[in-house]
Amino acid sequence: MNVLSVAAEIFPLVKTGGLADVAGSLPKALKSHGIRMRTLVPGYPSVVGALDEATPIARYECLFGESATLLAGRVAGLELFALDAPGFFHRSGGPYTDEHGIDYPDNWKRFAAFSFVASQVAAGFVQHWRPDIIHAHDWHAALSLVYLKYASDVQIPRVLTVHNIAFQGQFPAHLFSALGLPDKAYSIDGLEYYGDLGYLKGGLQAADAITVVSPTYAREIMSPTFGMGLEGVMNARHDDVVGIVNGIDTDVWDPAADPYIGHCYSAKTPLPRLPNREALLDLFGLPQTSGPVFASINRLTWQKGMDLLAAVVDEIVALDGRLIIHGNGDADIEEAFLDAGRRFPRHIAVRLGYEEEFAHKIHAGADAMLVPSRFEPCGLTQLYALRYGCVPIVARTGGLSETIIDANVAALQAQAATGVQFSPVDTNGLRHALRRTVKLYRHRHVWESLQRQGMKTDSSWHRSAAKYAELYGDLTAADMRLAG
Ligand code: ADP
Ligand code: GLC
Repeated sequence: MNVLSVAAEIFPLVKTGGLADVAGSLPKALKSHGIRMRTLVPGYPSVVGALDEATPIARYECLFGESATLLAGRVAGLELFALDAPGFFHRSGGPYTDEHGIDYPDNWKRFAAFSFVASQVAAGFVQHWRPDIIHAHDWHAALSLVYLKYASDVQIPRVLTVHNIAFQGQFPAHLFSALGLPDKAYSIDGLEYYGDLGYLKGGLQAADAITVVSPTYAREIMSPTFGMGLEGVMNARHDDVVGIVNGIDTDVWDPAADPYIGHCYSAKTPLPRLPNREALLDLFGLPQTSGPVFASINRLTWQKGMDLLAAVVDEIVALDGRLIIHGNGDADIEEAFLDAGRRFPRHIAVRLGYEEEFAHKIHAGADAMLVPSRFEPCGLTQLYALRYGCVPIVARTGGLSETIIDANVAALQAQAATGVQFSPVDTNGLRHALRRTVKLYRHRHVWESLQRQGMKTDSSWHRSAAKYAELYGDLTAADMRLAG
């Protein structure tokens, strides 16, 4: 079976978060199910520059006003199509925002152009290759399903994955006429969204199946608290929604063979974690300590609850813990952590930025990973932490609640616990979790059991790739029945 995946990010070429990790690792996991997944990504310089033997396969003189070339090529075992449209994708900022973190004003057009081309590839416009399914990720790609549904003669099953319903691609309605869609696409069953255009909303309506990156989040976004305005649509599409928890790439995240860490280790030989811990404290300029080393590698945002963490740093200091922060995000949260680092230089170290290498070193050396998210569709950091023997301390929400087993008495007795969950997700809840964690940490055998169980947890794509394969199989079978 052939599947066209459409994603705005893909690891290792362009990444702002977990979407890239998923888009980069799912195709490999599907191979053993006989599925060939090729991925269309925007032609950012980091993508176009990396393509091996880039072959131009289509040329657009005027794609939403820009010239563009569709390239095919391979990188790191991935089969890619890249939409090389310099006017849209060769920019000095990130994939979605300029260097000041402001959304590009023409995002509506950049991702409409991208999605339009995706619909053309899906319809078999690229000779010799016609996918059986199109699988779009998040709002940036959602419009491809709308183009296919309303503006194409060719119909193939359409899948949309929701990675985060907070990001919806909402734009003023007057732009509709520039999208080249028939009028009927601007309706309550289509793109219309509270009087605006909703790209994600349109995709949710146009999809034959909707996947959400964890079963818990799939349930949560049926409610106003988590649905962010789309709960009505999610409820209406309820029968076509399936929650499939993300897996991780166990080759990229493997403490036994990680090129970024000084000392490799495994569940059977965990001792080299100790020199990694020492090296980590040195790297971040913190004194060596026998107290717990907490870390968080995260977008510094409200979603991630990083303001809550910044507000309880005194608790970590009082417990003689250390805290390592690596991330970037909202200016006031960045400043709150920098300020904490200045106030407690022997306990708190902050490195603003986004570096893959730091992420690996921190997972390999810190004792506990803090993930205090207010909502978390799936979360990958806690899965990497499990595999690296870095005990996850997580908010009880979304994918976090179903991937970490809380160290309650029963789970500890059964030697099943892998971390600490807390709720309510507020500063009191987090303080309580920190105190519980330190108690567990002081019982060495209990802590080592948490680490061991975590490292033994299977967070690979094994089970979830099978679920995607089954979904694709069901959709193509239904499609053939309709055609027959
Ligand atoms: P989200 O996609 O919502 O940010 P996830 O937990 O799904 O959350 O994925 C986050 C990904 O981004 C992980 O691979 C994590 O290691 C990585 N990451 C987050 N912040 C940083 C950072 N500052 N430096 C390097 N990697 C980071
Ligand atoms: C989003 C979500 C995160 C999820 C990731 C990959 O960024 O915020 O929870 O793990 O997508 O699906």
